[in-house]
Amino acid sequence: MDLGLKNRVAIVAASSQGLGKAVAMGLAREGAKLAICARTEATLHATAEEIRRATGAEVLAQPVDVTDYDQVRSFVGETVKRFSRVDICVTNAGGPPAKPFSDTTVEDWEAAVNLNLMSTLYFAREVLPLMQKQKWGRFITITSVAVKQPVEGLILSNAVRSAVSGLVKSLANEYGKDNVLVNNVCPGYTQTARLDELAAKLAAAQSVEPEQVRARWAAQVPLQRLGHPGEFANLVVFLASECASYITGQSILSDGGYAKGTY
Ligand SMILES: NC(=O)c1ccc[n+]([C@@H]2O[C@H](COP(=O)([O-])OP(=O)(O)OC[C@H]3O[C@@H](n4cnc5c(N)ncnc54)[C@H](OP(=O)(O)O)[C@@H]3O)[C@@H](O)[C@H]2O)c1
Repeated sequence: MDLGLKNRVAIVAASSQGLGKAVAMGLAREGAKLAICARTEATLHATAEEIRRATGAEVLAQPVDVTDYDQVRSFVGETVKRFSRVDICVTNAGGPPAKPFSDTTVEDWEAAVNLNLMSTLYFAREVLPLMQKQKWGRFITITSVAVKQPVEGLILSNAVRSAVSGLVKSLANEYGKDNVLVNNVCPGYTQTARLDELAAKLAAAQSVEPEQVRARWAAQVPLQRLGHPGEFANLVVFLASECASYITGQSILSDGGYAKGTY
């Protein structure tokens, strides 16, 4: 299948490791030109180099904190300066901390909203007008399976991710007439540094080994295992492609069947 991604220009946010990096690598393998970002410069540049070496793709790498609107605006501006357009934008960020509601502060809530909702909005504000003019665009948000089924211990994520899926549905309605497709991709348990951190934290709290926590998670998944970042990236690459031309306004899971609802 020709995905039609050759020479498309793709921004992938928060992409020095984990899911974002896998998505960037997947798009580069299909011939897209990339703009990637994260906060830690050394890891970011190492990832950019790894992608260039593996795929031959052109990669712009800029240190950015996605919770800072000025930095996001400058990043999108640099991308346009370098590649003259933005066809695809995949938003991503870290996840809020795991804690029960009773331990959260107002500051925790504000930080979670900034990290996962406002960062998405900043990219939307900057790239959607460009895509609208081009009459072609793919705006894809990375959230979590939490939008379909709350994840235990992650109340900050559970609440704020749903705001992003509401934003996605509304943007899809508003920009459909411009051939700009807006979708939300929702990872379940996928083996990344973030998941290792979460496993270590839960294991320490329960006086068990992180491996036992991971095994318990896997047992809740019909496929009986955790996902690989590359499996998640395949879904995003497809949604970014020409082949997904009649799909918009959707929240689509890559979770091995973890969420138990019918829809
Ligand atoms: N893995 C899973 O099982 C899973 C499941 C559901 C949802 N999710 C969500 O999916 C997203 C990605 O998860 P992951 O597992 O790939 O996490 P990860 O391995 O921790 O990677 C996070 C990436 O985001 C960057 N980042 C974090 N905060 C940032 C910020 N403020 N500005 C710019 N870049 C930032 C990190 O680099 P720097 O730290 O250098 O900035 C890193 O490149 C998270 O929101 C996570 O909660 C993951």
